[in-house]
This record gives sequence, structure tokens and C-alpha cells, in this order.
Amino acid sequence: MHEQENSMSHELPQESVTVIGLGAMGTALAGAFLAAGHPTTVWNRTAAKAEPLVARGAVAASSPEAAVTASQLIVACVLDYGTLRAVLTGQEAALAGRTLVNLTSGSPEQARELADWAAGLGLAYLDGAIMITPPGIGGPDATVLYSGAPDVLARHRPTLAALGEPVDLGPDAGIAGLYDTALLGLMWSALSGWLHGVALVGADGVRAAEFTPVATRWLSGAVAGFINRYTAQADARTYPGDDAGLDIHLAAMEHLLHASRARGVDTTLPEVFAGQARQAIAAGHGADSYARLIEVIEK
Ligand SMILES: NC(=O)c1ccc[n+]([C@@H]2O[C@H](COP(=O)([O-])OP(=O)(O)OC[C@H]3O[C@@H](n4cnc5c(N)ncnc54)[C@H](OP(=O)(O)O)[C@@H]3O)[C@@H](O)[C@H]2O)c1
Repeated sequence: MHEQENSMSHELPQESVTVIGLGAMGTALAGAFLAAGHPTTVWNRTAAKAEPLVARGAVAASSPEAAVTASQLIVACVLDYGTLRAVLTGQEAALAGRTLVNLTSGSPEQARELADWAAGLGLAYLDGAIMITPPGIGGPDATVLYSGAPDVLARHRPTLAALGEPVDLGPDAGIAGLYDTALLGLMWSALSGWLHGVALVGADGVRAAEFTPVATRWLSGAVAGFINRYTAQADARTYPGDDAGLDIHLAAMEHLLHASRARGVDTTLPEVFAGQARQAIAAGHGADSYARLIEVIEK
């Protein structure tokens, strides 16, 4: 009995949090805070969207001011930065001394501008980029990138960890958004490459379900290994083609183009790869590794 009382007396109350914006993502964020036991206040322009969260224990704020003043930590996730500024306009005095973690998507420039605005108010500001869709929030594949006020993530990490693994990208508020766009570009390249493969093998009667296990094994094993190998080359600006030179890659790209044309499959994607390889080869770099293309891409 005595031991149990002792251990309970050491339990800290969970930090209170306000979530502004209850679209698909804001609803998932608020749900994850509730699931982790955080007293959660929510506000949304369309008030009815708060009802399912209130049924789970959230408090619905009646105005942006009530939302801001309910918690020291405010997490915002609305359509865009202009919307967030509009929602927070008029709340400047209430925001002073609090912490805003903005998980709305935007450009690095918008994030830096908002960080400057927050600094002028005495509002601690952390910009974030959510690298998962709403159903994955709080799950094992959820990552949230953060950049901005250096102490904010350290202070609120246990609370923010309810959303997904927090990744600290340093003090420049614009960097999280820049990583976000770069990583989405990587995702679209990978998804379109996979779909191109699905179309190609599909033309010969292979189902996506048969092709995909082979594709994901290749992507997460060998291709991830190539990326790791070329990382040092990209940083060092030297591209020894001792594993496979661009001449070899281009020959394989021509096979992809041929196989695509023969099956009536769109060639836009392989034309991009081949065009970049041809440029580097024309400049005399045919024996260099694939990493040489960084200089074509950078222009
Ligand atoms: N969904 C994803 O997979 C995902 C992933 C990563 C990042 N994000 C980012 O998360 C943010 C929200 O995305 P979402 O999927 O939740 O979008 P959503 O479902 O369309 O929700 C948009 C939110 O913005 C609010 N809003 C729009 N215009 C407004 C205005 N003029 N005044 C006040 N509030 C306004 C909406 O309020 P109402 O309910 O009143 O319309 C709603 O809360 C976006 O920046 C998005 O890029 C989304």
C-alpha cells in the first residue's frame, strides 16, 4: 500500500495541449493527444467537427481566444499559413509567453516569416512537418520533423512524441518544411517508379500483388544501399563509378524505354532518367557513378 502510494505520487500530470484545426489531420493529432492522456482543448472553424473528440474527453473552445488561453502548448494544423495567421490575428496578447507548434504545411519562407512574427510577440515557435497520413498518426511509422526554437522540442518532446517520432532538424524554422518538400519529391519518384513497373509487368499479365514484394525488397535493400553508398560521393563531389558507371545505366535505361514503348506504356519517367544520364555522358562523365547526376540536377 505504502509502495503504491509512493509510486503514484511520482507520476506527473500530463501536459495540457490545445489543437487548432480539426480537419483530417488535426482530428488525428487531437485524438493521439487524448489517447496519450493529455488534457486536450480543441478549436475548429466548423465547430461540429469537435463533437467526436469531445465525446472522447476533449474540451471544445468557443473561440480562437479561448483555445489559445486554455494551454501553454498550442499545436496548429490548418489548411495553410495564411489561414493560421487569420485565425491567430487578434490573439497576439494572449499568445505572448506561450508555445506554438505549427504542423500546417507550407514553404520554408512562410515558416521563417511566421517564426519572425512569433518572435516579435514573445511566442516560442516550432515549425513541424508531418510525414504520415492521418491514420498513421501515433503509429510506429509516424515521423514528425521539427525545426525552430531549440529549447521547445526538448521541453515538449514527451507530449509531441504522442504524434510520432520527433526528429530535431535544428534552429532554422524553414528547414522542416524544406525537408518535407524534398522527402515528398522522393516519395513521388518512388511511387511513380513503382507504378511504372506495375504497368510494365501488368502489360505481360503480371499482377501488382506479384510484382510488389519483389519491388519493395529491392527498394528497401539494394536501392537503400546505393543511396547510402552515394551519399559520401555527393558530399565529396567525387563519383568513382567502380560499381556501375553512367554508360551502363544508360544502356539499361534504353531497355526500359524500349520495353515501355513496345507495351504502349508512358515513357515520360524513363525519358527523364535517360535525359539526365545523356547530359552527364555528353559532358564526358560516362564512367562516373550515378551520383554524378547531382551536378546535372543542380544545374
Ligand atoms: N492529410 C494529410 O495526409 C497530411 C499530411 C501531412 C501534412 N498535412 C497538412 O496538414 C494541414 C491540414 O491538412 P488536413 O488533411 O487536415 O486538411 P483538411 O481536412 O482539408 O482540413 C483543413 C483545416 O483547415 C481549416 N480551414 C480551412 N480554411 C479555413 C479558414 N479560412 N479559416 C479557418 N480554418 C480554415 C479547416 O476548417 P473547417 O473544418 O472549418 O473547414 C480544417 O480544420 C495541411 O497543411 C496539410 O498539408 C496533411
